[in-house]
Amino acid sequence: MSGKPSLTHQQQSNNRFVREMFTSIAGVYDLLNHLLSSGMDILWRKKAVRMLPCRQRELALDLCGGTGDFARTLLKKKKANAAIVADFALPMLSIAKKKLSSQKVCCNGVDAHYLPYRDGCFDMVLSAFGMRNITDLEICIADVRRVLKPGGEFLVLDFMGGQSGPVYHLFSMYFHYVLPAIGKLVSRDPIAYSYLPQSVKKFHSRDMFKELLESKGLQVKKQKDVLMGIATITLAVKIGSYVKEED
Ligand SMILES: C[S@@+](CC[C@H](N)C(=O)[O-])C[C@H]1O[C@@H](n2cnc3c(N)ncnc32)[C@H](O)[C@@H]1O
Repeated sequence: MSGKPSLTHQQQSNNRFVREMFTSIAGVYDLLNHLLSSGMDILWRKKAVRMLPCRQRELALDLCGGTGDFARTLLKKKKANAAIVADFALPMLSIAKKKLSSQKVCCNGVDAHYLPYRDGCFDMVLSAFGMRNITDLEICIADVRRVLKPGGEFLVLDFMGGQSGPVYHLFSMYFHYVLPAIGKLVSRDPIAYSYLPQSVKKFHSRDMFKELLESKGLQVKKQKDVLMGIATITLAVKIGSYVKEED
């Protein structure tokens, strides 16, 4: 027995719901992503990748990598030589495979709670719009730290909970009313695009997320809001000497 915590029955059922939802919208995911964000998602991924310090990275893990856009941006900007795109919704990965066929990329069907990789094998882990969907972030982040080399980066782009201010309020109206209506029309999935604003509401605030990363031995170097707090980029680094607390 490795002693690694596992998901409860309730969590497993939530995890299944998330996987089935992304499986069902895979075919329209890219179109809706770019349409509903007016292409901002592309700019935000580029901005996130630009936050990485310049250094040689052999292998990166794009966790909850979906259709592969974050890995593609990373490789295009030459911030790593090769990448693994990992996701548990296989139809999302099929699209990633086609889009990244000319790159040094391999796609793995993987649940982010149980990474099937050896300790310290990645120079960095990146995740865009993925962490918010994770059922048990503590389990996932502990595993992210495990697979990172000491000094390796964890780069996260996501919509965080707990944001406020007039611009955010306007965005929130769009997110709760306009986006689910367009999403439902195009994807024909009645749930997926109502789930999105709910998942943001429930997700950690940027401070709570920072606290969680640091409690797992990842030191947060930078946190940057994009478009006045609509999304946030977090860059953390694995601290070499962290000792896991006993449960
Ligand atoms: C909003 S999409 C983001 C995709 C991509 N990273 C992007 O930038 O467009 C979230 C992805 O996370 C994946 N995901 C959610 N929970 C997961 C888990 N526990 N294990 C693996 N993948 C997961 C979903 O299947 C989905 O493809």
